[in-house]
Amino acid sequence: MANGKLSNAKNAKNDEFYTQYHYIEKEMNAYLEYNPDVFRGKTVLLPCDDQEWSNFTKYFAQNFINFGLKKLISTSYAVDSKKYKTNYQPSLFEVNSPQFDYDKTSKYGKIFILTHDKTCDGKIDVNDLDWQYLSGDGDFQSAEVLKLRSEADIIVTNPPFSMFRTFISWLTEEYKQFVIIGNINAITYKEVFPLIKENLMWLGATNFNTGMYFQVPDDFIYSDSYKFEREQNGIKVNRVPGVCWYTNIDHGRRHQPLSLMTEKDVIKFGTKKPFQKYDNYDAIEVANVKHIPSDYTGVMGVPITFLDKYSPEQFEILGATQRGCHDDVPDTKKYDDYWEVKPNGEPTGSSGGKTNENANLLGNDGKKNYFINKNGRIIQSAYQRIFIRHRRDAK
Ligand SMILES: C[S@@+](CC[C@H](N)C(=O)[O-])C[C@H]1O[C@@H](n2cnc3c(N)ncnc32)[C@H](O)[C@@H]1O
Repeated sequence: MANGKLSNAKNAKNDEFYTQYHYIEKEMNAYLEYNPDVFRGKTVLLPCDDQEWSNFTKYFAQNFINFGLKKLISTSYAVDSKKYKTNYQPSLFEVNSPQFDYDKTSKYGKIFILTHDKTCDGKIDVNDLDWQYLSGDGDFQSAEVLKLRSEADIIVTNPPFSMFRTFISWLTEEYKQFVIIGNINAITYKEVFPLIKENLMWLGATNFNTGMYFQVPDDFIYSDSYKFEREQNGIKVNRVPGVCWYTNIDHGRRHQPLSLMTEKDVIKFGTKKPFQKYDNYDAIEVANVKHIPSDYTGVMGVPITFLDKYSPEQFEILGATQRGCHDDVPDTKKYDDYWEVKPNGEPTGSSGGKTNENANLLGNDGKKNYFINKNGRIIQSAYQRIFIRHRRDAK
């Protein structure tokens, strides 16, 4: 298969990863702990859902009364529009419904709405959901789902991985509260980082340390290198590393400051050597979040996993690798003649006896990197970094 096709197939496969109930419960509990009324009187929209599988729908339907929800809306994407093709069979629930339509079942998206105890059994749960076919395929960008977005107060979902950038732009077009799942590497996307920097979006309370296991379709084929669990709680799962929740709903974890050592103690007990300064930025390289010195007053470059520990009262975010932090962290040096190597010492694509002209490109193409001077002309690019400063030292 050509490379492009292979990566399309991979992306399509990754779009059909379904979130397990316990992850949703644990994350939502953090918002509820911080504010027990976080969902009260709210309309919650779950776009990009798949009610055959969706634990998001199940979770919010089951907690409808507890949370004091006003309305729950969940939409699904038409089977025929999905990139990942499976042998589709409508569920018994759908087939047994009076509105079942054989011609529509795979061509149209569906909408499920929950507002009251329809079955009059004294409780509200999935059995009280009203459903119908949408007039289109349920694409989150369609006019009918856009209308639902406007109606919603809170949007919660695990969007298709292959469309994360588009989804986040869609999500932030209107001000809505949200909780969504995404890859940790999305932190430095141009659609994401400015929001994080301005504290308009942050990481959720329960994140990626050991990877997340998603339910996958029965015909899912594991990659040859896959070494993790394939079944959990009786369902077929696939582990995805580097996954986190992105949100703009407050939770207690982000207000807990990191406990840190002084620079002297970090050197004595941790790094065993002084921090290095970047060659082209007035900042120190802190390769491990637990080694952020408590008493350093300048700018520090830290791994992106810092965001899992970030408290806006403790730190200020100034920029990130490849996201132009030129204003807050201006570069202090241009290179005329250099040899760039990766953190592992291998030459990078942009290395190798550059001319002055190309050297300028290095500084101006928006893909700025942070370098550690190894030896005169040899500069080593740092891993992806976020630039921070203690809040108390903010200028
Ligand atoms: C990662 S899965 C997550 C499903 C569900 N939210 C969950 O976590 O269990 C993303 C879902 O979005 C659907 N999808 C893909 N493209 C879409 C689009 N343009 N609009 C709406 N849904 C889409 C996929 O088919 C898939 O069912």
